[in-house]
Amino acid sequence: MAHVSTIINLKGGVGKSTLTYGLAMVLAHSGKRVLVFDLDPQSNSSVLFLGNQRWNEANPTQTLVEVFKNELEGKFDENKSLDILISTNGDISDLRSPVTLAASSPQLMDIQERLPLMRPGDYFLETPVNIIQRRFGTHFMNFDYVLFDCPPSLGLIPMNALLISDSYIIPTIADRVSTSGIESVLARVSKINRFRSHELRFLGIVISKYREQSSMHNTVLRELNTKYTATLFRQRIAESNAVSELGNFRDIGLTIRQKFSSAFDSFRIIAEEFTSRAGIETAK
Ligand SMILES: Nc1ncnc2c1ncn2[C@@H]1O[C@H](COP(=O)(O)OP(=O)(O)OP(=O)(O)O)[C@@H](O)[C@H]1O
Ligand SMILES: [Mg+2]
Repeated sequence: MAHVSTIINLKGGVGKSTLTYGLAMVLAHSGKRVLVFDLDPQSNSSVLFLGNQRWNEANPTQTLVEVFKNELEGKFDENKSLDILISTNGDISDLRSPVTLAASSPQLMDIQERLPLMRPGDYFLETPVNIIQRRFGTHFMNFDYVLFDCPPSLGLIPMNALLISDSYIIPTIADRVSTSGIESVLARVSKINRFRSHELRFLGIVISKYREQSSMHNTVLRELNTKYTATLFRQRIAESNAVSELGNFRDIGLTIRQKFSSAFDSFRIIAEEFTSRAGIETAK
């Protein structure tokens, strides 16, 4: 059965989509079957995985918009949901297993606003927060990992993810603004845990865009180390051109080492930490 994990922080620009993409690609490179949901209308991770051209072709008919729209219109067709999934190697030539993507669209924004108006189905079992589970849940068994990339907010769509995940990861920049989002996520999750049969496990905090020379980053890092000790991933992602250029989608495939360049090892080690944390009973 897949391990299902949500990548979340209520702060924007902290590396959620980059981490989702890096984790998925490294896991797929080692042969793991990965299913990624881009739940953010900004569609950043969809573009990372597909490149602009392929994403433009998919948007909006082969995206999550179709699935959520059908739900709003009271239609239910599970096979149709699976039709939106896109199998992709991105622009990487040596993945042992392609990544399967449920892509996003800016239209997901309007859908999110309409979701509270959704009519509950028979017996009130169909609600706006269990759409992903009902439409895709049985398909999860075909994967090793399911990853949800969330928007920097906690609306009904990311709630879909948190309610069915086994675990969550919080990426953050080591500065005061970004880390202030951590406590809000923890508080929200503890509320969500009341509605779950088993606890949503906190796998840890991943420091992104780390600058070794920055005294702010090092001060905040020390504070985080004291406050969250074992939940801090040992491996950090440094700020680098290599990472910011992951969005340059080439027409000719590169090996994953060429694509990730100097950042490859960080993502590889983070993926190892992720799988080992996911496999143990508690991360704390
Ligand atoms: N380690 C890094 N080094 C350099 N640039 C980075 C790094 N990590 C992320 N970036 C860049 O920072 C920007 C924000 O990153 P990303 O999109 O992953 O954040 P996010 O948390 O998903 O943002 P949002 O909340 O808007 O969805 C992107 O342009 C990305 O390329
Ligand atoms: Mg993002």
